[in-house]
Amino acid sequence: MGKSRRVSMAVIRRLPKYYRYLEELLEKDITRISSKELSRLTGFTASQIRQDLNNFGGFGQQGYGYNVEELRNALGKILGLDRKYYTIIVGAGNIGQAIANYKGFQDEGFEVLALFDKNPKLIGLKIRDIEIKDVDSLEEFIAENEVDIGVICTPKEYSQDTADRLVKAGVKAIWNFAPNDIKVPEDVVVENVHLSESLFTLSYLLKCYSEQE
Ligand code: NAI
Repeated sequence: MGKSRRVSMAVIRRLPKYYRYLEELLEKDITRISSKELSRLTGFTASQIRQDLNNFGGFGQQGYGYNVEELRNALGKILGLDRKYYTIIVGAGNIGQAIANYKGFQDEGFEVLALFDKNPKLIGLKIRDIEIKDVDSLEEFIAENEVDIGVICTPKEYSQDTADRLVKAGVKAIWNFAPNDIKVPEDVVVENVHLSESLFTLSYLLKCYSEQE
């Protein structure tokens, strides 16, 4: 396991947020930011940010703050964003098609090579330029193409089977949108995306605020 995997998940989950804010600063041509300003922007304390970044070496200088571009580039490297990733989507329904349709992922270096589905009505259609293929050809496609990430967008009844097939074919990273936890071997990484959990958090907060009124 690489050194960066020993960093706590809490720290890892904050890094994309720092990265996103730094990107926004760069878009506004801001070249330098104090730790206090970065703290105000991100909502994390300056000491928290310093501690997080110290896991990866020293960044920033006392009295100067951070050079935005340098820190953005360093975080990009830490996050592994300095390379391209090839992805496939299994399940070409609402979510699968929406992901394939969003060009932003491609701009960020995550290219969708193909979608797979079992519905004959969808097979052969294209989302942007990306073809929906028969899921029966999944293993063959993975054997013939470099696939870094498998995106699971099937109903939950099929997500474990889909994960097993992806793993057996050699895929080492899974982005799972199905609303259940899938089991994978230790050398495979999974990131679950549950929009409902975020929505439930929002409804909790809304409830708290309405109770205060
Ligand atoms: P959908 O019904 O529109 O699409 C599912 C697609 O998967 C269909 O085209 C179906 O033919 C295909 N499929 C079924 N079994 C398959 C298999 N074994 N191999 C390949 N393709 C297969 O469903 P939708 O709305 O796109 O949702 C997809 C998944 O995402 C569901 O599990 C749903 O619960 C979940 N979901 C997750 C959210 C999140 O926050 N992560 C939010 C909304 C939905």
